[in-house]
Amino acid sequence: MELSNQQKDAVEYIGSPTLVIAGAGSGKTLTLTSKIAHLIQNGYDPARILAITFTNKAAGEMKNRLVRLTGIGPGSFPWVRTYHSACFMILKSHCSLLGYNMPLQIYAEYQQKKLLTEIMVGLNFDKKYVPAILGQISSAKNSANPGHYFDQKPCMSHIRLSDIYNLYEKELQQKNAVDFDNILFLTRNLLRDFPDVRKKYQDLFQFILVDEYQDSNNLQEELTRLFFSGSNLFCVGDDWQAIYGFRGSNVNHFLTFEKKYEKARVFRLEKNYRSSDEIVQVANSLIEYNPDKMDKKCYAKKKGGVVEIHNFYNDDEEAKWVCRKVRVLKDTGVPYNKMAVLYRTKFCSLAFEKALRYYGIPYRMMGSKGFFERKEILDINCYLAASVFPKDDVSFERIMNIPSRGIGPGMIQKIGSVMIPGMSLQDAARKVLCERLVTPKVHKGLTELIEVIDRIREQPPSEAIHTVLTSFRYLEYLQGYSKTSADYASRVENIEALIYSASQKSTLLEYLEEASLVREDKEEDKEDGFGVNLSTIHASKGLEFSAVFIAGCEEDLFPHWKSKESEAELQEERRLMYVAITRAAYYLYISYSNFRKGQPAHISRFVEEITDAVQEISGDSIPF
Ligand SMILES: Nc1ncnc2c1ncn2[C@@H]1O[C@H](COP(=O)(O)OP(=O)(O)OP(=O)(O)O)[C@@H](O)[C@H]1O
Ligand SMILES: [Mg+2]
Repeated sequence: MELSNQQKDAVEYIGSPTLVIAGAGSGKTLTLTSKIAHLIQNGYDPARILAITFTNKAAGEMKNRLVRLTGIGPGSFPWVRTYHSACFMILKSHCSLLGYNMPLQIYAEYQQKKLLTEIMVGLNFDKKYVPAILGQISSAKNSANPGHYFDQKPCMSHIRLSDIYNLYEKELQQKNAVDFDNILFLTRNLLRDFPDVRKKYQDLFQFILVDEYQDSNNLQEELTRLFFSGSNLFCVGDDWQAIYGFRGSNVNHFLTFEKKYEKARVFRLEKNYRSSDEIVQVANSLIEYNPDKMDKKCYAKKKGGVVEIHNFYNDDEEAKWVCRKVRVLKDTGVPYNKMAVLYRTKFCSLAFEKALRYYGIPYRMMGSKGFFERKEILDINCYLAASVFPKDDVSFERIMNIPSRGIGPGMIQKIGSVMIPGMSLQDAARKVLCERLVTPKVHKGLTELIEVIDRIREQPPSEAIHTVLTSFRYLEYLQGYSKTSADYASRVENIEALIYSASQKSTLLEYLEEASLVREDKEEDKEDGFGVNLSTIHASKGLEFSAVFIAGCEEDLFPHWKSKESEAELQEERRLMYVAITRAAYYLYISYSNFRKGQPAHISRFVEEITDAVQEISGDSIPF
């Protein structure tokens, strides 16, 4: 592939910190990768080049491309990594300086929760705050300055956050463990506080390159600055695509690059190589509505792209139409894996998972679990399954202590011990109740559980779900389980989508059959990995497809109701739409429905904002 002159200039320039500012699809990632190849051709050691990607998948793709460009083996690029992966390599080598030993354990989320719960219970605080406090601890560390963070936000309810934070960190250290955020945070401390270590890595890394720089958070920015030693920094990004502000990313690092580095050199790429001109025009017309943005030109030479806006009666109709279109595109030679269905929030995947299965089209979920594998959906479905299939021990065991009834693993074992051959765990539970073999608290909880399981058996599926939710105050439990209010909102949306979908079936059995079929089909598709991509827009960042369907473009869904409170959030939502549009190379289908999850829905302002541009390029009027 021939680089453009603009791209070549950026690749060949060495001398001062460099920033490439460019729109979507203009070859930023390609330029960064080509620069690594160029450095290697000019005698730089590939083992001494640090290239930061946003995801592990992107790191893998970059390495593959480097192998093709340079002809050297994939093992020769040890520092093409995400921030987390690079920092863990460093932390492992020097953790003794911070008082840790090898092997260092990384705590998964459930281990973090367990540890913090022990601390909270020990202090007589309500453990319902555990997930929210973990969220605060995470934000504090990613801000790079927890002290300052907790000055701004000292308490949750009556709990002093900095006290809990200190105890949590102390406990982690005593267990010789780190959580995911500590991988970056402790590496930052290591590089900041130990000049020898800092010098070692500044000497090691002859070059530092950062992709998707616009979404760096404060901690990542500080790490980059600690690695940097002079002129060897090359960052690429696009402020129009900054979409992780809600998670602490700070686009100001990108915007102030020239101020931070006095001798900085800035390159601009203007031509979009990914998308046809029609798609680029629509994307440009949308982003015009964002007042806070860098000036940037984006154009494309390719002509002949398709952009259409479609309106449907409801989400099922929308999904079926997408499937039929997918088939037509397949027949015209677009492979399934070059098509993507993108949506703002996870619950939207359900209608597509069902319809794709119905049409026998393979698909794969990117970046998130399939609808029926999500925790809240599994919980509810296990209740329903335990009701219809009394011998289903896996489902019954899952729900015995969800929400908590004081039935821990020891108690489950005790209940299981009364089983005789042919008896299920549920039978055993009924037996311990009859014979009054457990403590009054467990007896009461188990009685309620069995009573509800028996009651919902004959109820229509959506009613059965309501019964489960209300009998056990499941939403309250879920709120406690969720890390942030956004996480909770997304889980509730999943449940709403489930209830609506269940209301289409008349018996629990019928409903459960469909749920397990959708799940099983997905397992099979995983094998070849060659299906239509289903993804949230966030997870589609940096990727490209021949055909993109942006579904569910309705007010309150996109822009999402939780992100409509401030102008800044609304602009981030619009950038998200910009990212979605610019994933498409040739075909772009934008759709909205009049009903979603059975509720009335209205066209998104983003669709209205691009309507003129779409009409102009297609020459048609669009039916609304
Ligand atoms: N000079 C070129 N000639 C031909 N194709 C190119 C050229 N530069 C980039 N491309 C192609 O354009 C597409 C987009 O490139 P790339 O993914 O590097 O863009 P990007 O700016 O990183 O996009 P995003 O903003 O979405 O991250 C890729 O398919 C790439 O191979
Ligand atoms: Mg890119």
